[in-house]
Amino acid sequence: MCGIVGYTGSAPACGILVEGLARLEYRGYDSAGIAIQQGGATEVVCRRGRVAELAGSLAPMELGGTCGIGHTRWATHGRPSEANAHPHTSCDGRICIVHNGIIENFAELRERLIAEGHAFASDTDSEVVAHLVEARLAQTPVAADDAGLRLVQAVADAVCELVGSYALAVMSDDAPGAIVATRKDSPLIAGLAPDGAYVASDAIAMLDATRDVQVLADGQIALLMPERITCYEAAGDGLAEVEAAAVHIDWDMDVAEKTGYPDFMLKEIHEQPRVIRDTLAGRLVGNSISIDELTLSAQELNLVDRVCIIACGTSYHAGLIAKNLIEGWARIPCEVEVASEFRYRNPIMTPTTLVVAVSQSGETADTLAAIRDARVKDARVFGITNVVGSPVARESDGVVYTKANKEIAVASTKSFLGQVVSLTLLALLLAQAKGELTSAHIRQLYSELADTAELVERILADTSAIDEAAQACKDAASALFIGRGMGAACAHEGALKLKEISYLHAESYPAGEMKHGPIALIEEGFPVIAIATASPTYDKVLSNLQESRARGALVVAIATEGDEEIRSHADHVIYIPPVRDALSPILASVPLQLFARAIALARGCDVDQPRNLAKSVTVE
Ligand code: AGP
Repeated sequence: MCGIVGYTGSAPACGILVEGLARLEYRGYDSAGIAIQQGGATEVVCRRGRVAELAGSLAPMELGGTCGIGHTRWATHGRPSEANAHPHTSCDGRICIVHNGIIENFAELRERLIAEGHAFASDTDSEVVAHLVEARLAQTPVAADDAGLRLVQAVADAVCELVGSYALAVMSDDAPGAIVATRKDSPLIAGLAPDGAYVASDAIAMLDATRDVQVLADGQIALLMPERITCYEAAGDGLAEVEAAAVHIDWDMDVAEKTGYPDFMLKEIHEQPRVIRDTLAGRLVGNSISIDELTLSAQELNLVDRVCIIACGTSYHAGLIAKNLIEGWARIPCEVEVASEFRYRNPIMTPTTLVVAVSQSGETADTLAAIRDARVKDARVFGITNVVGSPVARESDGVVYTKANKEIAVASTKSFLGQVVSLTLLALLLAQAKGELTSAHIRQLYSELADTAELVERILADTSAIDEAAQACKDAASALFIGRGMGAACAHEGALKLKEISYLHAESYPAGEMKHGPIALIEEGFPVIAIATASPTYDKVLSNLQESRARGALVVAIATEGDEEIRSHADHVIYIPPVRDALSPILASVPLQLFARAIALARGCDVDQPRNLAKSVTVE
């Protein structure tokens, strides 16, 4: 949550910061601001709203400075406003900071600083950092030859007082051309390019300049100067130079562009066949599934007697799908739990429990906390994430990447399919280790899994039935998504997609639960979206549809090509190609994504940046 960018170099910073913020806007878009060093002082410009508002205000200003920091905000403490927008400054205006995360002890720090004479200009937790650095800098001995290092020391001292999570970039008028950056539990990446040094909360903000980046670890402090980046860590009473982890980013630059699509969401939906192919590449060796990154031997895998999937939101729904596969194929008990519950429940873990943490961003605060808890309790943790070098990747015992490449739209689509495919591979691997499936069966399932890429292409080629169904439902006040088995998991994801981007209230239920309550919602024209694909429970779903229609529901059915019977039970039928039930979520999810998008557009919503949401949830 929140995006940070900083640049110091030979080029004018303003354009670089605004461009970087636009790329980071998926992280939050309540307000945006930049601070640029200009002729011995710092110019700060903040605006409520999107980065485009800020860019419009900056255009006539012609800021020529070559060192600056910027921020795009997702409000936690203090409502979205210009006063609460970052950068925040110290009393004398000579220190400027941008912050991502939450300072949990800000109230007591603020009280103390006010008592010491500091005046605050915002309601944010972040502003305390500017005042703390100001106070620490005043106490740090002046080393005339290195003002940058003095700022590093002051920031190091200041963050010792912080409780919570932070990624910070700090500038001081006393250290022209220097940016100090540090982090704890919130990502921060630095990169040196021919035109200068960059820092950002995501490499996407600096991809035009460099693909070789340094991923700062918790507690590391980077000093960025135009020609160098030096990294430090606290050592005894002072600081010692250290190396940050070097990572090469190999995404195609197209990830940051819409490449002709009207929005990122549609572009990313269309990338899904590629994601399936890339996620599967190299995973079948002979007749065996290979996931070396799991770092468990065949013998250790055979000892796994329980799988626990932890995740949030859409990633949790991918886990619900995987539960069916892991229990069905590998015959290992599997639980799926939202990470925010798991972390506070004191769950029972053993060394033979395999915890699977699923997270697109790899930085979701609850998922990370759950990983830490599971590891303390001796479980082995396997991460599935989309972001190379992310905290989930670093803190798990083994990690697999979903190969979705950068996902920009706030609503997850392609990363979800990448997760489902990765989890399907994991289920096959466990079944193989347990001897529950023969090699021939595994090869067959892998081949059908690989075929889904082409089947998704077929769904994407003709979306007319989806658009018609969306038109019929767009004015509803509420909708119900139902399914059984695999269909129930898909229903949960379909409902989440619809509510997050269209603001149309949606609920999801296993279809068998209808008579236990939700059916009371149904009245004339109430949309019921049913996953009614070929499955062992198909007839049961049909009965639920009859019951819904008898009460006036407008039924939209996702069904299997060739099923003519469904037409007499539904007002709108969206067909997907035939596939075995175990793999049906990979196909059924795609029309649900397009359905949600079509309704959101019909209701005039911004599908890429829905209100109140941010792509990465780095705070609790
Ligand atoms: C997805 O459409 C959502 N925006 C959200 O539920 C998301 O899946 C959730 O926040 C988890 O994020 P993660 O996968 O990055 O951990």
